[in-house]
Amino acid sequence: MPIRRIRVFPDPILRKKCRVVRRVDDKVTDLANDMIETMDSAGGVGLAANQVGALQRVVTLHLPGDEDAIVLVNPEIRDTEGEREVIEGCLSFPGFEGMVKRSVTVKARWLDENGSKMKVTTEDLFAQALEHEIDHLNGILYVDHLLEHEKLAAAGSYVDPEEPHMHDVELEVHADHSDEDAEPEESDIEVVHTTIKFSDLYSEDSVDKMQYDLRKAGYVIDPPKATDQTHDHVESDDPHLDGGVLLDHDHSH
Ligand code: NI
Repeated sequence: MPIRRIRVFPDPILRKKCRVVRRVDDKVTDLANDMIETMDSAGGVGLAANQVGALQRVVTLHLPGDEDAIVLVNPEIRDTEGEREVIEGCLSFPGFEGMVKRSVTVKARWLDENGSKMKVTTEDLFAQALEHEIDHLNGILYVDHLLEHEKLAAAGSYVDPEEPHMHDVELEVHADHSDEDAEPEESDIEVVHTTIKFSDLYSEDSVDKMQYDLRKAGYVIDPPKATDQTHDHVESDDPHLDGGVLLDHDHSH
């Protein structure tokens, strides 16, 4: 089950319509297994076959909290109800997210990896993922749903101050080079300043390249924010190790 290369915007295959699967055979399940491995290793919730270069109506989903991923062959939306605004991202737009309108309730049907008929009426992330992935099969991308006043932004920049979230963290690490039992001398302690950047989860280059590609295609881009939020400083009396994970840290926006 090899991991496949995820195609990123503006790869033209993302604009192609995928073909209906006539028979759920070994080729289809092999593709689905590769997609699951690719999706899981990228930390994605969903993946459509054209995102890994296969023009077939196959989607994989792995919802957070679910033990197993699911395979959806020829998925179709039967009905939708309601409207809500959600923040969305896509493995084909690494480093970006944007606000889109999605349905509250989605009714869908598909074939599973054994060719059995499945159907669901669902809400929340499952509903959102169904709409997002079935769009992919039709060559539609979430950026197409952004309204004029809504912009793409760097991933992680939509922050609800009430919710737990991540910041760049500046650490001062005191490394003690003295013998284990001896009281450390000042000269034995090496002070290392280090910053864990949330933004480094994506490389700067890939975000820059994606910004360029999106601008060229006429999308409005909110530039990724400068990483000046390095306001956390950890100190400790423990000379052996200074620094650590911040929990319940008071911060403001
Ligand atoms: Ni996507």
